[in-house]
Amino acid sequence: MAESPEQFRGQSRLPRFAEPLRYDLLLRPDLAACTFSGSAAVAVAVSAPTRFLVLNAADLSVDGSSIRFQDVAPTEVVQFEEDEILVIGFGQVLPIGEGVVTMNFTGTLNDQMRGFYRSKYDYNGESRNMAVTQFEAADARRCFPCWDEPAFKAKFKLTLEVPTELVALSNMPVVKETVHGPLKTVCYEESPLMSTYLVAIVVGLFDYIESSTLEGTKVRVYTQVGKTSQGKFALDVGVKSLDLYKDYFATPYPLPKLDMIAIPDFSAGAMENYGLVTYRDSALLYDEQLSSASNKQQVAITVAHELAHQWFGNLVTMEWWTHLWLNEGFASWVSYLAVESIFPEWNNWTQFLDETTSGLRLDALAESHPIEVEVNHASEIDAIFDSISYDKGASVIRMLQSYLGADRFQKALASYIKKYAYSNAKTEDLWAVLEEETGEPVKDLMTTWTKQQGYPVIFAKLNGQYLELEQAQFLSDGSSGPGTWIVPMTSCCGSYDVNKKFLLKGKADKIHIKDFAASQTADRGIGQNSWIKLNIDQTGFYRVKYDDELAAGLENAVKANKLSLMDMIGIVEDSYALSVACKQTLTSLLRLLNAYRHESDYTVLSHVTSVCLGVNKISTDATPDLSRDIKQLLIKLLLLAAKRVGWDPKVGESHLDVMLRSLLLLALVKLGHDETIAEGIRRFHIFLEDRKSPLLPPDNRKAAYLAVMRSVSTSSRAGYDSLLKIYRETSEAQEKSRILGSLSSCPDKDIVVEALNFMLTDEVRNQDAFYVLGGISLEGREVAWAWLQENWDHVVKTWPSSSLISDFVNSTISPFTSEERAAEVSEFFCTRVKPSFERALKQSLERVRISARWIESIKSEPNLAQTVHQLLLEEM
Ligand code: BES
Ligand code: ZN
Repeated sequence: MAESPEQFRGQSRLPRFAEPLRYDLLLRPDLAACTFSGSAAVAVAVSAPTRFLVLNAADLSVDGSSIRFQDVAPTEVVQFEEDEILVIGFGQVLPIGEGVVTMNFTGTLNDQMRGFYRSKYDYNGESRNMAVTQFEAADARRCFPCWDEPAFKAKFKLTLEVPTELVALSNMPVVKETVHGPLKTVCYEESPLMSTYLVAIVVGLFDYIESSTLEGTKVRVYTQVGKTSQGKFALDVGVKSLDLYKDYFATPYPLPKLDMIAIPDFSAGAMENYGLVTYRDSALLYDEQLSSASNKQQVAITVAHELAHQWFGNLVTMEWWTHLWLNEGFASWVSYLAVESIFPEWNNWTQFLDETTSGLRLDALAESHPIEVEVNHASEIDAIFDSISYDKGASVIRMLQSYLGADRFQKALASYIKKYAYSNAKTEDLWAVLEEETGEPVKDLMTTWTKQQGYPVIFAKLNGQYLELEQAQFLSDGSSGPGTWIVPMTSCCGSYDVNKKFLLKGKADKIHIKDFAASQTADRGIGQNSWIKLNIDQTGFYRVKYDDELAAGLENAVKANKLSLMDMIGIVEDSYALSVACKQTLTSLLRLLNAYRHESDYTVLSHVTSVCLGVNKISTDATPDLSRDIKQLLIKLLLLAAKRVGWDPKVGESHLDVMLRSLLLLALVKLGHDETIAEGIRRFHIFLEDRKSPLLPPDNRKAAYLAVMRSVSTSSRAGYDSLLKIYRETSEAQEKSRILGSLSSCPDKDIVVEALNFMLTDEVRNQDAFYVLGGISLEGREVAWAWLQENWDHVVKTWPSSSLISDFVNSTISPFTSEERAAEVSEFFCTRVKPSFERALKQSLERVRISARWIESIKSEPNLAQTVHQLLLEEM
């Protein structure tokens, strides 16, 4: 039996001898003073002898004298700040069974976008405060004392006391509202069993629009007063997603209502609070006149993602943060399923390869981590909301689905949801259900992907009639790690009609080509005009390195347009990654890129342009003498497609062509294409005179803004000032973000510093800093790094959240390409590093060293200049 409160310190999880069953919470936010007071009555089940209750509390003053357990006052109350726990000790052992603990507390409505915080908005020209919660991952404890771990599910009954004229929302519908003078007391229905991180409250002035699902669930979108028309698109996607998920998971939406609301200050993109989903403005609001096609897609994906969580995450919740990927990977994967079905013309599954690409890029770092990662302290949780949990997570699910087959997979998911509804699950629980439903060795297969960091590259070599395969862990630094995986392989030869599916279990294997080639090919062998593609449609989370003969066959197939869009993407992405790791020359990558010059599909070109921009960046440092020519070559590669789409939208054109135009214009501006830059500036001036001009629709604005910034300098800064003017005049979050993302892209270093300083003013919301950081020009990287060092103390204080501070570190450090810089950065951080950004720092440093190594290797490529010049001369 525990004797002293001390013994609860330094533990990664709360003891389980007393667990919450039901919370009765009263909260009184004071929006003017930015404080709140509250009281909690929590029914607890005591299951083992103890004289202590141990729960979480942080940044709260708990009134020790108010605490009672079944009318008994405690003998000691201790709050351990570092552990964020509150230990309540009683004179006697608590009776086994149910009892109620009550207490009063007060706190601050902070400005850090976590816990219970205040956000600001304009109403009739005045600035007002709203009160909002953001509890994931471990910040419910900043609003009320609670067992703040996902496995302590309980029922919540909330009561709010707020000014009468305000809208007060929570997870559940209102059951009673009583007005007394300027205040009203709002009581909400009791919730079903749920985790603390999903509790939500929003208090402010809002309008709403409403619709309902086929089953009759009321769905509302709340916006700023007067802006409900911007909520229509999200409402429509929301209702359709709920209907779809109900069928897909074979379980109805679990709550009586769903509200979605736009919050002007919001650290993430959106948060899936049960029945009250919160969004940053730009991720929820869509305006036909003001938003771009890519804004539209982002809204759809975000809504579909958060609503997927209502099942995957909220109804069935991860048992501990180690299994966070079960939430985020699944919601990400299933959001593509929903959006594919609502907007089939977006070719969403091909766009999914953006996710796979980010996952593969991050997981090629030695400083990556396994999907299932050990978490020992609350401060470590936020850092795992990264591309591994989201993108690798979603990608290995797609890999598994493709291995098991869509129908079997869906059925098994539905039984998993039923089995663990209102409860918690671990990764293995999911594998067990899948295994039971399908009879396949799911656990063995998937464990190699979730408990082990990294992924393999498969070396493929043709030896007579055999295709020889060998796996090794792929790392961007060129080394090969120790991992081996059970790899779901697929292959086809010359056509997609015949293909083979098998598991590569050991280090190496070989297959006879007659197993997966049409019989003719098998007899004749792989001739000049044939090709072998592994990892069909990139459903597997791995890369392939083909021998020269196979690579040449694929290059021809790309040229001859024989391959699926997904395979076109996979080939260029793998080739780029292999080149970064110095496993393949930049020369051969450029030859391959050249094979894509007749491509006109958005989904493929979005990967081709991203590779082009990566090549452009590295060549600036690696081959300064040749970099102009490389730029010209890259421009040439994109120009055919760019000419086809032009600047002006065409009547009736597809969503993807609109996306393509904006993609190519942006890339050409970034590559310094003079004509595109001049045209962007010309159109910008017309737009300045007439903000409704059809010559610069929202889709093309970012390109024009960047074009303007390419020509700005300290002595000729009108473009910068005009952009600031538009920024100040617009109230649209998406427009603001386009401008913020442009300001720091200037080649003039003083202007870059000016943009960074502007970011620190209260004209830029803290949530939006990352747009500015993401735009920093290559020319500005030194001053940006100097700026960060100078402003470090202020930055860590103002952006405490893991993802935001990690953005600062990553965007300023990753662009460097020398060992010396890496050493300088390490030295600066050796006394300053914190858990919230430690991994981001290590990853950034690793990227710098990878670039440095790549540069050395490029310098020694004998045929690079000759190839560039030869390709430049080739006809289009
Ligand atoms: N649960 C997350 C929000 C979150 C992120 C909470 C990080 C705490 C820390 C939410 O479901 C989410 O994943 N949001 C994404 C949007 C989505 C479309 C990938 C986001 O905020 O970017
Ligand atoms: Zn999510």
